[in-house]
Amino acid sequence: MHLTEPNSTGKSIHTSTSLRRATTADVAEILALFVGTVRSTCVNDYTPEQIDVWALSAKNVDRWTAFVTDQHFLVAEIEGAIVGFGSVDKGNYVNLMYVHKDFLRRGIADTIFDALQEHALLMGFEQLTADVSITARPFFESKGLRVVKQNRKQENGIGITNYRMSQ
Ligand SMILES: CC(C)(COP(=O)(O)OP(=O)(O)OC[C@H]1O[C@@H](n2cnc3c(N)ncnc32)[C@H](O)[C@@H]1OP(=O)(O)O)[C@@H](O)C(=O)NCCC(=O)NCCS
Repeated sequence: MHLTEPNSTGKSIHTSTSLRRATTADVAEILALFVGTVRSTCVNDYTPEQIDVWALSAKNVDRWTAFVTDQHFLVAEIEGAIVGFGSVDKGNYVNLMYVHKDFLRRGIADTIFDALQEHALLMGFEQLTADVSITARPFFESKGLRVVKQNRKQENGIGITNYRMSQ
């Protein structure tokens, strides 16, 4: 067990959680976390076919490597293992936000989000936008984003619902 203490928002977070910029050397670990999260945390909100299509996007390693190199991409680590990640693209678009299934509700996404928001502010953006899953909607609501519209995107012929949200 790790000791926990309140973070700046009063939430409990591992004392040993740290944030850093992702590098291309992290891509394999990021993809493993992504697939594990989609196949566990999201299963109550999407059908097995939708989960399969979503997880399949991990096959495009070049695309994910480009996310790391082209976006402000942060990883949260505990004892050297990645337990969550998030990225912001073009200054104010939150592209990714995933936390390992064994580390949910400990304020890890909250901490990542606040760091992304800080980066956006430095870039001159006061409001963040994202297209978020049904699963992640309550988290983004907790960060002050509201649904602007519901999307139905098609991937490999399978329709997947998510929400455009904005602060
Ligand atoms: C969304 C996600 C990143 C949140 O990660 P997390 O580290 O567990 O979130 P936090 O602990 O920082 O939560 C902060 C607040 O968000 C809200 N929240 C987070 N998850 C929630 C849930 N499942 N239900 C209701 N509220 C939730 C709560 O207000 C929470 O505060 P609290 O724990 O004090 O009540 C995580 O659930 C996840 O990886 N989901 C699957 C991946 C996904 O769909 N990503 C988005 C793709 S667009």
